Amino acid sequence: MSGAPGTRRAGGPAGRGLVAPALPASLRCRIGSWRRLARPAARVRRIVFVEGMGVPLDLDLDGTDAPAVHLVLSHGGRAIGTGRLLPRDARIGRVAVLAPFRGRGLGRQIVVRLMREAVRLGLPEVELHAQAYAVDFYRRLGFHAFGPLFDDAGIPHRRMRRSLAWHSAVAGVLVDGRRFLLGRRAPGLVMGERWDLFGGRIERSETPTRALARELREELGIEARIGPRLAVSLYDDPRDGTVFRCPVHLVTRWKGEIVLNPEHTAWRRLWLSQVGRLRLAHPGIPRLCAEARRRAAGSRPARNSGSRCIV
Ligand SMILES: CC(C)(COP(=O)(O)OP(=O)(O)OC[C@H]1O[C@@H](n2cnc3c(N)ncnc32)[C@H](O)[C@@H]1OP(=O)(O)O)[C@@H](O)C(=O)NCCC(=O)NCCS
Repeated sequence: MSGAPGTRRAGGPAGRGLVAPALPASLRCRIGSWRRLARPAARVRRIVFVEGMGVPLDLDLDGTDAPAVHLVLSHGGRAIGTGRLLPRDARIGRVAVLAPFRGRGLGRQIVVRLMREAVRLGLPEVELHAQAYAVDFYRRLGFHAFGPLFDDAGIPHRRMRRSLAWHSAVAGVLVDGRRFLLGRRAPGLVMGERWDLFGGRIERSETPTRALARELREELGIEARIGPRLAVSLYDDPRDGTVFRCPVHLVTRWKGEIVLNPEHTAWRRLWLSQVGRLRLAHPGIPRLCAEARRRAAGSRPARNSGSRCIV
């Protein structure tokens, strides 16, 4: 699935500036619901906005947290940074880093990771209301200011937005009994000689399931019935850092003998334990296979799998 040219959305260089560098081992990043993250997120916001800037508590807790996606960065078990994405409004907000931890790139990490969540949800752009003093912080992250200055909680703000412009791909976890079919990418391709799921780009007029059925016909010579979506995976093109949004589907039924096209030099039917030992094109493949096995066995989706947790 890696490195397919994909469909470019919106204008500009697709997905640039959306690669999230690895965090230092001492930091933990959690992304999830308000139910799960309310306590640490609200703590950071209280220190930074309520106590630090005099924002009234009822304006900070504005009643829109429940449907939002929240991010919390922790150090030594204590929350030190947060931010949220309101999917319905495609708006990022409440970005805050505790004062002793500022100037180390953590604010940037929070915004980039929230933008990646927006890509995972399929949003073409995101907006935010920047405090006037932070406009340049967001400008460095690709946001453009628009409209006049306005007042919110006694603090001057500007509206800002940026295009996310990701590529579209699709992949399938092919499950045969309790084993998984993976292919070794041909040398010369992106991620050449690494083992990967099958799949590829989504053409302009295609749905993800039609695109996957076509890719499996072209790559393996099989007629597959495409099953439910397991997750939406994100991966970065190592050549130029563009981001691919890749729904991953379960495939348990197909017809025909497997005949590889030149995109792969080999295919194998692997146990889950063997998948993890291969040189893989994407580190999320073992988790996707584990989720596929659960779903193929008819069990409920695992907690923390679903569309947001497999990166
Ligand atoms: C704004 C805030 C989140 C930035 O967090 P941070 O961790 O210090 O930011 P980073 O270290 O990731 O900075 C990334 C870049 O932006 C720059 N930057 C940080 N704050 C900036 C600011 N206020 N104005 C201009 N540039 C800024 C940094 O110098 C760095 O530049 P570089 O790319 O050249 O290295 C943090 O200062 C904060 O929590 N402020 C209080 C809450 C707040 O105002 N939130 C924004 C609400 S709209």
